[in-house]
Amino acid sequence: MYTLNSTKAYHTDQLNTLGWELTVCNALHPEGTPLRKTLIRDNSFGNLLYDHLSRHVPMEKIARVVEVGGGYGYLMKDFLERNSTLEPCMLDLSPFLLRKQKETLRGYNVSYREEDLLETGRAFLSEFDLAVLNENLGDFPTLVNLNSNLFQSPSDITDPILRSALHFFTTYDLEKPEGDFNLNIGALQVLEKLCTAGIPYIYAGEHSCEAAVPEALRSFVCIESTGNPARISLKGHDEYTIKFSHLESVARAFHYRVVRGPFADFIAFSLSEKLRNILLTLGRTSDEAEMVCQFIEDLFRYEYMIIIKDIIA
Ligand SMILES: C[S@@+](CC[C@H](N)C(=O)[O-])C[C@H]1O[C@@H](n2cnc3c(N)ncnc32)[C@H](O)[C@@H]1O
Repeated sequence: MYTLNSTKAYHTDQLNTLGWELTVCNALHPEGTPLRKTLIRDNSFGNLLYDHLSRHVPMEKIARVVEVGGGYGYLMKDFLERNSTLEPCMLDLSPFLLRKQKETLRGYNVSYREEDLLETGRAFLSEFDLAVLNENLGDFPTLVNLNSNLFQSPSDITDPILRSALHFFTTYDLEKPEGDFNLNIGALQVLEKLCTAGIPYIYAGEHSCEAAVPEALRSFVCIESTGNPARISLKGHDEYTIKFSHLESVARAFHYRVVRGPFADFIAFSLSEKLRNILLTLGRTSDEAEMVCQFIEDLFRYEYMIIIKDIIA
């Protein structure tokens, strides 16, 4: 029997710090962090992402941007410092994090919306040129412990949640797993909504269940990927890793182009002698080495997707 994992109550009523789930964005925020010293360009997440987006998105022509789940607001502050013509809207479920975003973005022309993206109207979203979702797709509902029996007699299924799962497999021709599996139903609903709203540029980054390390780095970085969304237990809630290939299929069905890869594509590090030693000893030599090792692994565990509908001339 399946269950539906939700983080809504946690984000609405309990969350009072992101310290327990250090995001890559927050990890790179402090200027003096040893993590930045491993990078080819010592810079913040927002600046590195802005530069990468600029390779695929005409950032100088972007005005209205919606950032969903902006955490402490650091990413958007970097974006505004690079491009003062942006008109951001910060949409978040967490009243605590919206307050943090208001503090970080004080003095900038930003609007705020306390809302579950799953309940946001398409008409509102259709106003935006760019949507940014960093490290939050795994927070949206996940169907846990589904079984491939689901596909045997689809017309007999009456449960609306299972019918919604089937909708994604049939409408977007998703590859059907065998045996037991988990489905990122919330992330699929979110992407379908953003695509239906016709937002021309969408960026999403999250912990992937399909992550891979390039051959040349496999003796230094070792990560496991099963292809099935996996549970990550965090303070007060569970999240699930994201099956990006499913999201890619939805985006392509809406005639978007897809650029996809590991965070290491835009957070490039230098494989110095010191870093090689840290990775080969799995960061066991000191607390700092452990933090660096974990960070470099995360640059491959996390994937991003930029989806593009070239309508801004
Ligand atoms: C792990 S934090 C990531 C924060 C930030 N983007 C970063 O990378 O540091 C997840 C964010 O998504 C928000 N969030 C989770 N579920 C949401 C939902 N259904 N609708 C809107 N925001 C949501 C949380 O409140 C939080 O701001």
